[in-house]
Amino acid sequence: MLSSAPSRRPAGGRVVFQRIIWVRVRRRKRQSAGRRSPWLPGNRAPIETAGPLGQNTGAKYRGAKPGRIQGAAVIELENVGYNYGGGELLDAVSVQLAPGSFHFLTGPSGAGKTTLLKLCYGALTPTSGRVRAFNMDVHGLDRDQMAYLRRRVGVVHQDCRFLDHLPVIENIALPLLVSGRELGHEEANLHELLNWVGLSERAHALPPELSGGERQRAALARSVILSPDVIIADEPTGNVDWEMSQRLLQLLVELNRMGKTILVATHDLSLIRAAKNQVQARVLRISNRQLQLAGADL
Ligand SMILES: Nc1ncnc2c1ncn2[C@@H]1O[C@H](COP(=O)(O)OP(=O)(O)OP(=O)(O)O)[C@@H](O)[C@H]1O
Ligand SMILES: [Mg+2]
Repeated sequence: MLSSAPSRRPAGGRVVFQRIIWVRVRRRKRQSAGRRSPWLPGNRAPIETAGPLGQNTGAKYRGAKPGRIQGAAVIELENVGYNYGGGELLDAVSVQLAPGSFHFLTGPSGAGKTTLLKLCYGALTPTSGRVRAFNMDVHGLDRDQMAYLRRRVGVVHQDCRFLDHLPVIENIALPLLVSGRELGHEEANLHELLNWVGLSERAHALPPELSGGERQRAALARSVILSPDVIIADEPTGNVDWEMSQRLLQLLVELNRMGKTILVATHDLSLIRAAKNQVQARVLRISNRQLQLAGADL
């Protein structure tokens, strides 16, 4: 089984947005007083890791033994298999995402990256094995539990779709509306968020008017609007140039430094190399239907 530890880099980046996130975290902590939330910053159990996470040479991970996680993993796949009906796509996949960890998921086109992400956030049910998120078995969640999971896990989809007749700001705010929040109370937050992703000037543009990089940033903003604990991004830098991919990476790194657990599917190895200079990231690779910890050959 693969496992990981959280990044422990000092906080940095856009202070205002960070403050908003922390206010929300504190509010949620107050609301859930008495209920232990192992994934909340400051409430995490110590984690014992398999690899020397400070040294991301990759070679150090080769042959690393599974880590023993003492705290709860936010997402855990246990012997998961999946097929769409045309033969096994994933077989005996086991992985734990520790709170605050940063993972890349890579592998050739068609290897099953998107499928694996969908299994992680409950959009697909494994054909064998078990997926757990926040200590809940993802299979068989009732409607309320699924809504809870949707709030805790923000997703940037590979094809990031929007409602084309609504301006960017309203698209980003949609998860708030769906979860029954009063938009009036959230307006300042929304503008801070737009500012954070660099889309203040495009707040009232319609999605078809956005560039590829703007769409990706809008999708990222939408995925974090409910202040989730986990952000799952599927090829968030697909179809953008190097500079924009660095900017998107920076946003993900900032989220990780705030304590968010990040899982990013990408085939862009140079993005992974760039990330490793900034954050303690582990790289998972799908190969021959199985999940492996990638080594130094990246
Ligand atoms: N809904 C579906 N029904 C049947 N087969 C599917 C479905 N979705 C995906 N597949 C197949 O499963 C395989 C894995 O698809 P998936 O999208 O998970 O790959 P991927 O690694 O994300 O690829 P890419 O890098 O191109 O995004 C592909 O062969 C794909 O055609
Ligand atoms: Mg994909």
